[in-house]
Amino acid sequence: MATRSKFPDKLEKEFEPKINSSKDLHPAIRLAAIARNLGKQIYINGWVYNIRSSGKIIFLQFRDGSGDIQIVAEQSKLSEKQWEALKALTNESSVQFGGIAREEKRSPSGYEMALNNLTVIQISPEYPIGNKEHGPDFLLDHRHLWLRSQKQRAILKIRDEIFFSLTLFLREQGFTRIDTPIFQPVSCEDTSDLFKVDYFGRKMYLTQSGQLYLESSEFALGRTYDFGPVFRAEKSKTRKHLIEFWMMDAELPFEGLDQLMDFEEMFAKKMITDCLTNCKNELAILERDTTMLEKYTKNKFERMKHKEAIDLLNGKFNLGLTYLSDIGAPEEAKLSEIFDMPVFIYDWPAEIKAFYMPRFKDGDTQRVKSVDLVAAEGFGEIMGGAEREFDYNKLLDILKEKNYPYEDYAWYMDLRKYGSIPHCGFGLGLERFVRWVTGTKHIRETIPFPRMLNRFYP
Ligand code: 4AD
Repeated sequence: MATRSKFPDKLEKEFEPKINSSKDLHPAIRLAAIARNLGKQIYINGWVYNIRSSGKIIFLQFRDGSGDIQIVAEQSKLSEKQWEALKALTNESSVQFGGIAREEKRSPSGYEMALNNLTVIQISPEYPIGNKEHGPDFLLDHRHLWLRSQKQRAILKIRDEIFFSLTLFLREQGFTRIDTPIFQPVSCEDTSDLFKVDYFGRKMYLTQSGQLYLESSEFALGRTYDFGPVFRAEKSKTRKHLIEFWMMDAELPFEGLDQLMDFEEMFAKKMITDCLTNCKNELAILERDTTMLEKYTKNKFERMKHKEAIDLLNGKFNLGLTYLSDIGAPEEAKLSEIFDMPVFIYDWPAEIKAFYMPRFKDGDTQRVKSVDLVAAEGFGEIMGGAEREFDYNKLLDILKEKNYPYEDYAWYMDLRKYGSIPHCGFGLGLERFVRWVTGTKHIRETIPFPRMLNRFYP
């Protein structure tokens, strides 16, 4: 963790920009549109990285956020003043370059621009992140700068693709997005994981999931979903746990567990397909094995009951699990040794699942109609869903048994009075899904600014 130093004295000249405003710049194109702007005078705004000089020629890599390009500067094509300004550039200096671009196979981006003009915006002092190996703590302390690195940019682009794909898909499938509150007086999942907040003297919690509120919206709008940040005060320090993460909850009225699994499978396949189509470059930068991703889009996901998964794991690995055991990270990893496709595990023990799930007796065990989707390659659970108990009396008994305060849930119980219906739904952990698609080891790289047990800076 970075130590906070005292407020620095103003460093008069050192960080002063070299221009007064954006009016000092020529109108520029974005590099995403470079293919349509070849062979003519253009200007581009961005940052320099990786500078290589061989006497009278300087090669620079340059990015503007929408793309990258190689710049070639020949001393003979520039004024003396321009050449001196160019030589003063350092990694991460901000600049406007003018010149003429063309395709160039040998350039890492496939394009090259011959420089004939430049306006320096700011000269960067020595950049803390270089080409050498940095430890994770150093990189996380510099997360605000680390975001500029090629791999981090690729992960965030894929995150955006997944968000966009999800939005389009749900619209096509007839869902309406509604937004659920972040301050909630009720617990959705497990009361031990709640962040308490003082709400003008009243106890409130930060949301763990918008599900309960989303359920009320489906009585108004049919298929609905939400998407936003959720918070879990879990003291887990694993590679797949965040304290703050982004969740999409979706509700499917009049449907049950089998249809839910069909839907989740179709949904996952669509998002992976879109990443394969639209993020080829990014997946290549991340060296992701795309044959695996392609396989997930083509073959059927596995489905098994919780107790079948327990029997299988005990049989193969002698883990000593019982029919009441949770299937956590170590067991999920073992499942990935058996299957090379994602696995739905359904019919879980009631004891380890949330209050709203309908219960049924299976021998001596109380089970619930819930389903977790475990990704392949050891990436663990990515979606969690269930049917919702829609019988007022049964739900009331569960609230009593769990000692949940009725007055906080009275509004939720109303949904079981006024035209109750069978329904189901699920939640997708966005960063878990991004981690799987990008093949990123640790979930902390799949969100711009991770919040973890010991990490809340910057
Ligand atoms: O399985 P969960 O707890 O389900 C719910 O919250 C339901 N209310 C959702 C619903 O039915 N609408 O969480 C859903 C997903 C998990 O499958 C996982 O992908 C992700 O949220 N998740 C986490 N992601 C990152 N860090 C954590 N600590 C997470 N906990 C859950």
